[in-house]
Amino acid sequence: MVTGGCGYIGSHTVVALIENGFEVLILDDLSNSNKEVLDRIKTITGTRPKLLEVDLKNSFLCDNMFCYNKNIEAVIHFAAHKAVSESVEKPLMYYHNNLYALINVLVAMEKYNINNFIFSSSATVYGNPEILPITEQNKTQRPFSPYGNTKKVAEEIIADITNSNKDFTAISLRYFNPIGAHDSGQLGELPNGIPNNLMPYITQTAVGVRETLSVFGNDYPTKDGTPIRDYIHVIDLAEAHVIAVQRLLENKQETSFETFNLGTGNGYSVLEIINTFQKVINQKINYTITERRPGDVPILYSDIAFAKEKLGWVAKRNLENMISTAWKWEQNYRQEQN
Ligand code: WQD
Repeated sequence: MVTGGCGYIGSHTVVALIENGFEVLILDDLSNSNKEVLDRIKTITGTRPKLLEVDLKNSFLCDNMFCYNKNIEAVIHFAAHKAVSESVEKPLMYYHNNLYALINVLVAMEKYNINNFIFSSSATVYGNPEILPITEQNKTQRPFSPYGNTKKVAEEIIADITNSNKDFTAISLRYFNPIGAHDSGQLGELPNGIPNNLMPYITQTAVGVRETLSVFGNDYPTKDGTPIRDYIHVIDLAEAHVIAVQRLLENKQETSFETFNLGTGNGYSVLEIINTFQKVINQKINYTITERRPGDVPILYSDIAFAKEKLGWVAKRNLENMISTAWKWEQNYRQEQN
């Protein structure tokens, strides 16, 4: 079962799961995704996964999903709102959606005795890290945004459950910055409305859907004043989820609750991303420097040793590939719409 499986990371993970022989059931409320993704997944894999459209904040409906689908072996939980800046404006919407959905899923898993759980977490749980690169041992601080805090609180809830229920095993995957798209150009990031994240905003500006990109501040303590992030290809991320769920199904986990950073270990500034994008697509991007965005931290990038050691996983795809696949997807999608 993949909650939020029609979303950006969810859909790429569903493709990887199908390609690795899994049968996938998607639960999604389509609040930030579209069921046309199912046809895209079928185009790529030959299999159209089943979708149950449901708001997981509704405990009765959530229970029904599990009650009428008895052969679930594991749950990968993506379903959550995920925009840092939006969460600063609407904290209660984020706590309500992200934590109610999580708790309803966990309650149903306990009731129906499903004991393998993969949680979609985020590097934002580290707040503004004192130590870089960030390892899983870095203290998780008070995240800078309600979005990040929903992920931190979620991990604490999961830890308490794995402490009390010895049969329940979980892995939390802390993503850095997922970008890029499937090589086929058939699947990619498709946020509803104005993109909150950098890469979709850049590709929509390059394709002419957006007038100009706002660079949120260039007065940070970094080489060019713009914030640094660890951008990771969404396919590398998807492959890590397959490895993680296989780890639990084969009982290879070393503790009942494991946490892994999913990053590349490389940090790029916003201006470096823009410059690399211009070079890769050989086209200028209109951008202006504006005020800082609330909730942003100056620098986040990952130490990749733990996932490499325990999962045998490292990100394989470089920044140019992340950008070229994101651009190919944007162009294909716009051509389809015309
Ligand atoms: C990246 C950088 C912005 C947009 C969040 C979540 C993380 C993950 C990815 C889910 C920042 C700058 C952005 C724009 C800009 N979420 N930027 N102009 O905030 O690092 O991470 O999204 O998977 O968990 O925390 O990602 O892409 O929004 O921003 O200058 O129009 O780009 O200030 O420095 P972020 P982002």
